[in-house]
Amino acid sequence: MIKAKYPTAAVFLPATHTLNAMQKAVQGCRGCDLYKFATQAVFGEGPNHAPLMMVGEQPGNEEDFQGHPFVGPAGKLLNTALEEAGIPRSEVYVTNAVKHFKFEERGKRRIHKKPSAVEVSACQPWLEAEISAVKPHVVVCLGATAAQSLMGRKFRLTQHRGEFFDHPWGPRVSATIHPSAVLRAPDSEERHREFQHFVEDLRGVRDVLKTLAR
Ligand code: URA
Repeated sequence: MIKAKYPTAAVFLPATHTLNAMQKAVQGCRGCDLYKFATQAVFGEGPNHAPLMMVGEQPGNEEDFQGHPFVGPAGKLLNTALEEAGIPRSEVYVTNAVKHFKFEERGKRRIHKKPSAVEVSACQPWLEAEISAVKPHVVVCLGATAAQSLMGRKFRLTQHRGEFFDHPWGPRVSATIHPSAVLRAPDSEERHREFQHFVEDLRGVRDVLKTLAR
């Protein structure tokens, strides 16, 4: 059991959990300390009732400045992979397990820092409310942080990558790597391999979506 120093985001959620109301209210979230350093909170975006929701870790440097999820390099790679897998990007709702960018300043650069388990858990009410508003058929966790937020801290991506689980919040849930892991591959050969494997996972998602749409 994680002991939170904060009340969690739960008390900052608006009375009605519509995406519009939550998008506004999230700017006032003080559920953990990350709001103190980030430019703004970055809420999820996409069609109101998208069949597919993808959950990343947290906004990156670019997302923090622009206020939109997955608009930086990882988002661009995700768009290419979705296209290769035959999933229309316009039908995907994208969000993050944590709504504020966590970083460390190194000179003029802001280097991504992994959110702590307490921060992930504090932010969970936003994610749960987003899932219950959008009601996606499938949620894909991109990377271990998102996967553990939804599937619990014992969930191991390396063991369960590409599998599908029923989730108490409604959707089928699967997990794959984060697109930034592809970008971090040490050389172009490895990057290509990682990218193809990522696309394979997304093809699996496309197939499950097709069966659920029937
Ligand atoms: N990485 C994420 O996990 N989320 C974003 O929105 C951008 C990069």
